[in-house]
Amino acid sequence: MQNLSQVLASSSVADSLQTVLIQTTDTCVAISDVLKQGSLAGILGMAGNENVQGEEQKKLDVISNDMLKDALLACPAVRAIASEEEEDIVPANTNGEYLIAFDPLDGSSNIDINAMVGTIFSIYRQIGDNPAEEKDFLIPGKEQVAAGYVLYGPSSMLVLTTGDGVNMFTLDPKTNTFLLTEKGVSIQPETQEFAINMSNQRFWSDSIQNYVDDLVKGKEGRRNKDFNMRWVAAMVGDVHRILCRGGVFLYPWDKKDPSKPGKLRLMYEANPMAMLLEQAGGKAHTHTDRILDIQPSAIHQRVAVILGAANEVDKCLSY
Ligand code: AHG
Ligand code: MN
Ligand code: MN
Ligand code: MN
Repeated sequence: MQNLSQVLASSSVADSLQTVLIQTTDTCVAISDVLKQGSLAGILGMAGNENVQGEEQKKLDVISNDMLKDALLACPAVRAIASEEEEDIVPANTNGEYLIAFDPLDGSSNIDINAMVGTIFSIYRQIGDNPAEEKDFLIPGKEQVAAGYVLYGPSSMLVLTTGDGVNMFTLDPKTNTFLLTEKGVSIQPETQEFAINMSNQRFWSDSIQNYVDDLVKGKEGRRNKDFNMRWVAAMVGDVHRILCRGGVFLYPWDKKDPSKPGKLRLMYEANPMAMLLEQAGGKAHTHTDRILDIQPSAIHQRVAVILGAANEVDKCLSY
């Protein structure tokens, strides 16, 4: 079985990007080690701070952010980083070619129940020798040169695209390396499974209410099939299930806080997942736009997300 370094070395991915990917995923291996220790390492619970998103940080949000930040700032090919847990971008090396945006720990409400969490990353190329600024990151997701996540579950898995399909790697605990276990992942256009947090139902738009009503009614409503529902409460887990067996995932706009266009973050969650989904033959949209076409206006921007099986995303948008 080929490991990640071998897969990258035999691809057309630039050497400098390979070093960034290796640095990022090696750090995820270290995060996976920390997670495995759980309570034994005293790393569960709250950090006692609020992040720029207005969320209470868990200790592990801070630990994983610091690990990725330290590793990437030390990497000569990295120009700057942006993180869900950092208020501003952090410049690294003026000669570095890559901008990296990441969600160091996705699904942090799952930490204390020992359930699935992950790290999501998104990489852009930017050359020049001006000091990095926030505006450098404000480019549409279709410009990403690589995107992926590491899922920390019963086994740890890396799911990666460099713009040439999606590959899945499984962490071999004996060698601490990611081994290629599935090549060229693809998502069926039809599905009978959906993922949404139903507790927000009363806050959804009429179109999402009607669409989900029809999913729930299945054959007894306007659809010719019944649907199953799953919700991991970590986008990384829900997207992973969709890449493995299909489905559709929604975190739509809701009127709980009408000032926010959605809950999920464009740069750290929506864009990297949208690139993976499209590379696997699926679709990723807001209520109105293809996610990868959105021109970001701020690094912490939020968006509504409807992604997964192509025909089901189209069906949802037709409401
Ligand atoms: P994070 O832990 O990085 O802040 O992200 C949590 C996100 C996403 O992973 C998940 O799909 C969603 O929040 C879950 O939201 P609910 O708690 O509203 O279900
Ligand atoms: Mn968070
Ligand atoms: Mn997240
Ligand atoms: Mn997070």
